[in-house]
Amino acid sequence: MQQERLLKVLVIGDLGVGKTSIIKRYVHQVFSQHYRATIGVDFALKVLNWDHQTVIRLQMWDIAGQERYGNMTRVYYREAVGALVVFDMTRSSTFQAVLKWKKDLDSKVAHGNGRPLPAVLLANKCDQQRYGLCSKLPKLDNFSRDHGFVGWYETSAKDNTNIDAAIMCLVENIMAID
Ligand code: GTP
Ligand code: MG
Repeated sequence: MQQERLLKVLVIGDLGVGKTSIIKRYVHQVFSQHYRATIGVDFALKVLNWDHQTVIRLQMWDIAGQERYGNMTRVYYREAVGALVVFDMTRSSTFQAVLKWKKDLDSKVAHGNGRPLPAVLLANKCDQQRYGLCSKLPKLDNFSRDHGFVGWYETSAKDNTNIDAAIMCLVENIMAID
């Protein structure tokens, strides 16, 4: 018997860090340099043949960076089962914001068992490393563990680096819960 699982996953992080680009890369295999800020929330769906018994419908909620200053996140987060928290390696302010997003998430949504949602940290735009924080950032292993992320990846939506790996890591952690 085949079963179908619908997983609602949030993609959060500051303005312009590349959330929409990561989703577009993952779902449609495209990338654009053009920046158009997301207003409110956007949606994308990816169907995964997970194993012989399971089809996953991965519903990705692309939340506008500007929502950090709004009150809507509580509504958007409802019934989510996991999150990607994204920052831009070339802008340290977006790294500072990571913990604000994580706190916002953990304060507003949790699993049925009361545990925080699995969250993966994405250091995006790693194709721009030369210009970025990278040399200054210690490897994020400790940071990510200390702040309750299940993993972290350097990603590039532009070059398609580690996008699949990061999302697989999240889905595996979600599926391991029950
Ligand atoms: P909001 O919707 O405002 O919250 O922004 P966002 O996080 O959705 O950012 P978006 O995906 O719109 O990307 C912002 C800009 O960064 C765009 O100009 C993208 O082309 C660019 N960008 C996104 N990902 C990458 C990347 O991996 N490498 C490079 N070089 N540019 C990227
Ligand atoms: Mg966007």
